[in-house]
Amino acid sequence: MKTIESNPVSSASLPPPRGMRLPITLIGGLLALIAGLFLYAGGWLTPHVLTPSALTDTFEHVDGPHPGFRRNHAKGVCVTGFFESNGQGQSLSRALVFRPGRVPIVGRFALAGGQPYAIDTPTIVRSLALLFKQSDGEEWRTAMINIPVFLTNTPQDFTDFLVVSSPDPATKKVNSDALNAFLAKHPETVAARKLVGSHPFSSGFADSPYYGLNAFRFVNAMGEFTPVRWYVRPDQTFEAATSAGADKNYLFDALIRQIHAAPLRWHLILTVGQPGDPTAQAASAWPPDRRQIDAGTLTLDSIESEDTSPTRDINFDPLVLPDGISPSDDPLLSARSAAYSQSFTRREGERKDPSAISTEEVGK
Ligand code: HEM
Repeated sequence: MKTIESNPVSSASLPPPRGMRLPITLIGGLLALIAGLFLYAGGWLTPHVLTPSALTDTFEHVDGPHPGFRRNHAKGVCVTGFFESNGQGQSLSRALVFRPGRVPIVGRFALAGGQPYAIDTPTIVRSLALLFKQSDGEEWRTAMINIPVFLTNTPQDFTDFLVVSSPDPATKKVNSDALNAFLAKHPETVAARKLVGSHPFSSGFADSPYYGLNAFRFVNAMGEFTPVRWYVRPDQTFEAATSAGADKNYLFDALIRQIHAAPLRWHLILTVGQPGDPTAQAASAWPPDRRQIDAGTLTLDSIESEDTSPTRDINFDPLVLPDGISPSDDPLLSARSAAYSQSFTRREGERKDPSAISTEEVGK
C-alpha cells in the first residue's frame, strides 16, 4: 500500500509559498514604516525641528535635572475655591462656566523656572493656574503669569531666548553677547521687555494680576466668534514689590497666612479683540481701549501642600477648553500643550521628592 512519507525537510527552511510572498513583503514594509514614524515623532530624523521633547529638554538644560517636578513652574502650592459667574461672559461664549452661578476651582500658585527649591525673590515671575469644573463634566484649564505680555511670539524663539537669557550651567553667567545678538534680531522681545519693565511686580501672590496672554476664540450661543484674551484682577490692594523677605519661602508663607485669614478674590476680565487685532502675537498687547468685560469673581479659600493635593497630578494644559472657547492661531498654544504633556509624562513616571512648601509650612 502506498504510504504518505513525512517531508524530511523542515518547513522553516523552505521559501514561503508563492501566494504568501507579497503579504510578508507588505508586513515588512509596514513595520519599517511604523519604525520610521516613531523615529520621526521622536525627532531623530529631523534634529533641526523643535519637538515636544526638545522643548522640555531645554528647561532641564537651563535649570538642571529635578525628577518628579514640573520642568517649568516647579515650585508651587495648591489652592481651591470657586468661580461665581455674573452672566456677563455669555454674550461672548456659550461655555457653561459663564452662565450665572458657581463652579468649583482647583488652582496652583507657582514661581516660573524649573527649580523646585528656588528662593523667593521680588522679581521672579509668578503664576496662577486654574481648573474650572463645569457641571457637565467639561473643564477649562488656564495657566497665567504676572507679566502683561509674553517675551516671544514663537516656540522656537522662546527656547532660544530661554537659553541665551539663563546663566550658562558651567560658568553660572549669562552670555551677554549671545543675549544681545538675540535681541538685535527680535525687536518684539525688546518691546515686550520694555512693557514688562513698566509694570512693577506686586509685593506678593495675593495682590497680583495674572494674565492668560494667548488669544482664544470665544463662540457664543449664536455661533459668533470673537477673539478674546483674559486676565484676573485682584481685589486685594496692589502694593509694589520692594525688597525680598527674610525667608526663602517668604512669598508662599505670606500667601498661606492671607488665605488662612480670609478668602482671596480676583475678577475674571475678558478683553474683547477687534477685527485685525493680532491673535498669534503673545508678545504684543492689544490697544488699551479694547472693551473689557468683568465675567465674575474668583474666590480662593483653601490652601494645601502639593505633597497631598491633587495639583501634583494635574496638567494645566491651555488647550483643555470647554465648548464655547476654542484656540486661536497662536503657535504657542499647541507648543505649550505638547510640552506640558511631555513634562507631565516625565514627572509622573519619576520618584516624588517633598515639595518646598510642605504640609507643615502650609499648616503654620
Ligand atoms: C512655547 C512656550 C511655552 C513652553 C514651551 C512652556 C513650557 C512649560 C512647561 C514644560 C511647563 C510644566 C508643565 C507641567 O509639568 O505640568 C509649564 C508650566 C507653566 N507655564 Fe508654560 N510654557 C510656554 C508658554 C507659557 C505661556 C505663554 C504662559 C502664560 C500665559 C505659561 C504659563 C505657565 C504656567 C502658569 C505654568 C505652571 C502651570 C502649573 O502650575 O501647573 N507658559 N510651561
